[in-house]
Amino acid sequence: MFETLSAPKLDGIIALMQAFADDPRENKVDLGVGVYRDAAGRTPVMRAVKAAEARIIEEQETKSYLSLAGDRAFLEVMESLLLGGAVPSARVAAVGTPGGTAAVRQICELIKRARPEATIWVSAQTWPNHLPLIAAAGLHSQPYRYLDRESGALDREGFFADLGQMATGDVVLLHGCCHNPTGVDLGLQDWAETAALLERRGVVPFVDMAYQGFGESLDADAGGLRHLSARLPEILVAASCSKNFGLYRERVGIAMAVVEPALRDTLAGTLAGLSRQSFAFPPDHGGRVVSTILRDTKLRNGWQSELDEMRMRVVENRRALSAAIQNETGSDRFGFIAAQHGMFSLLPLEPAEVETLRKNHAIYMLGDGRVNMAGLNAAAIERTARAIADVLRAR
Ligand SMILES: Cc1ncc(COP(=O)(O)O)c(C=O)c1O
Repeated sequence: MFETLSAPKLDGIIALMQAFADDPRENKVDLGVGVYRDAAGRTPVMRAVKAAEARIIEEQETKSYLSLAGDRAFLEVMESLLLGGAVPSARVAAVGTPGGTAAVRQICELIKRARPEATIWVSAQTWPNHLPLIAAAGLHSQPYRYLDRESGALDREGFFADLGQMATGDVVLLHGCCHNPTGVDLGLQDWAETAALLERRGVVPFVDMAYQGFGESLDADAGGLRHLSARLPEILVAASCSKNFGLYRERVGIAMAVVEPALRDTLAGTLAGLSRQSFAFPPDHGGRVVSTILRDTKLRNGWQSELDEMRMRVVENRRALSAAIQNETGSDRFGFIAAQHGMFSLLPLEPAEVETLRKNHAIYMLGDGRVNMAGLNAAAIERTARAIADVLRAR
């Protein structure tokens, strides 16, 4: 039966990871894959996670099945972390998922069940996996304008004009914070205008929150999501604990629907039914680590200061790279890097220039110019700035 299949094209990020691993040059710089790295290039297990894991191993008495929605304690702490009490729990239906990826997929499946004809509007630049996940659920997507490439800021006019074109019943996928790949986030005023516009047009927001705590702070990063939840009757949320708890391989995420109280049980049952059809029960260990940390004041404080350190390292790398490029080129064309949020920025480079950086300078970034700011350290910042100036001179 398998002769009907052709070998799939390797995902761009996976192919880049492979090429980097195969590169023998000692001074190579990996700005490709989207994981946090410390100054030594490691992605460490957080201290709070280690402590929570030790406690779980000591105290856990069974690994029997839980409910389809997963561990109740995990769902509760995540509701609080994400929504911060902006809406009553009677409006929230949620299930644990294997990572944020499965959360996005399950929300797409939910939309497909409820309104298969809905268009899912996606920012013109987005996480490369959004489009395949939407298509895999059998839904149709359309891009909306987001990044102004000249200024490296929000294309406010294009963004709001496109929101104004969306039809009642459509869904708009918004990045909660630390937009991947542009680093451009909505300000509170933008979120307020977005909420008002979506309310007028009857468009449902779907917020993907994969980097809470990496932008400004845990609460500030969830400000837009909380505003939308309080203002609108329906909102969909997919969140990941991969980055802010460093639990990448444990696969911890949550899919959530915030609805009118009368619909809450229907949504909870539908989400659980969708889980049953794909993975049944979500993995437990990572979610238990998250709830152990968030329910213990000492662990929570420790985790929060580790997360603050991670955020500050990225902020400092942004500032230093932006300054170093300005120093090398004499232009502030890349000044936007310092103003953006989260791990990613999209550099205004042509694919051929990205290729030159890889071939001639052993600097790896995605083909569209996306760089992971956490992949830099002092030496890499100097080298990257010089290499970028070199490439720009050849234009
Ligand atoms: C925007 C966005 N959404 C969702 C995810 C999913 O992350 P994971 O499945 O590893 O939790 C990512 C990961 O890179 C992301 O960048």
